[in-house]
Amino acid sequence: MPHSALAPYPALRMRRLRQAPWVRALVRENRLGPSDLIWAMVVHEGEGRIPVQAMPGVDRLSVAEAATAAREARALGIPCIAIFPHIDGETKDAEGSRAADPDGVISRAVRAMKDAAPEVGIMCDVALDPFTTHGHDGLIRNGCIANDETISRLIEQALVQAEAGCDILAPSDMMDGRVGALRAALESTGHNDMMIMSYAAKYASAFYGPYREAIGSGKLGSGPEANPIDKATYQMDAFNSDEALREVALDLSEGADMVMVKPGLPYLDIVRRVVETFAAPTFAFQVSGEYAMITAAGAQGWIDQDRAMMESLAAFKRAGCAGIITYFAPMAARKLGA
Ligand code: PBG
Repeated sequence: MPHSALAPYPALRMRRLRQAPWVRALVRENRLGPSDLIWAMVVHEGEGRIPVQAMPGVDRLSVAEAATAAREARALGIPCIAIFPHIDGETKDAEGSRAADPDGVISRAVRAMKDAAPEVGIMCDVALDPFTTHGHDGLIRNGCIANDETISRLIEQALVQAEAGCDILAPSDMMDGRVGALRAALESTGHNDMMIMSYAAKYASAFYGPYREAIGSGKLGSGPEANPIDKATYQMDAFNSDEALREVALDLSEGADMVMVKPGLPYLDIVRRVVETFAAPTFAFQVSGEYAMITAAGAQGWIDQDRAMMESLAAFKRAGCAGIITYFAPMAARKLGA
């Protein structure tokens, strides 16, 4: 709308439409409901719930607890849960062999959750990092991440997740060509309806810090000694924006049904460009570090945690997200339902 179309003050007083909650609700441009949320959840191989220190309010859940959580999601109106595995360090290896274990914690959690609440969608991360001793998303050959060999391993992992009964596969590894290879593998094995949400524009980010504790891949980040390969060799550079559009274009052309931008709040400009360019369902991942910042400041009493949570989720909707993957999902849904 051209600004000249606006009546001048005092004919126009913008505050008229802000004077009471009912009118603010009436003219609100964007909405947030539980159905906008994908609950990010960490599952572990043991029993019970184990708090994640860097993410107050988030626990790693046993398979049985995850099934209970799926029922809770249903009751709260949360349509989908994204699960991430915490794997016993003793059983990891450099090849991430357990990623394709049909009796692994992800497969068991998917089965238990679909059993408990079949109406709730389950999304699985396709990547090797929870299973590798080095914490990388790919296989290492000659000191580098081997793109094509990694893809074969990812496909094995994804087919195991599909067999377990998950609804959405979410490749988060950032290998080139993995979406196309995954789509072909799914079609040739009869998984024609399997949805793919690709981590299309995924940045190499400091905001993933607390996730390392959550899934127990602590070696990364302990310096070049422990881990000479940088995730920046496969994840995107924070200064880039056009490159995100090329990544999204590729993933859509290879068969992704939905795309994701990650992290969330620091990358809302990317969300907006992706939405405007492709008009495809676009999601943002409000990652562990974003959660940690809000809850840490909230715990100090420096910000109102609940309001900051809701305001951050509003920002995603304003930017054009179809939905948000967030650890806040149950807390936000409870507030929205209240
Ligand atoms: C890795 C993966 C990561 C996250 C989700 N999948 C970490 C990484 O890429 O280094 C981060 C999630 C979060 O920080 O909440 N495949």
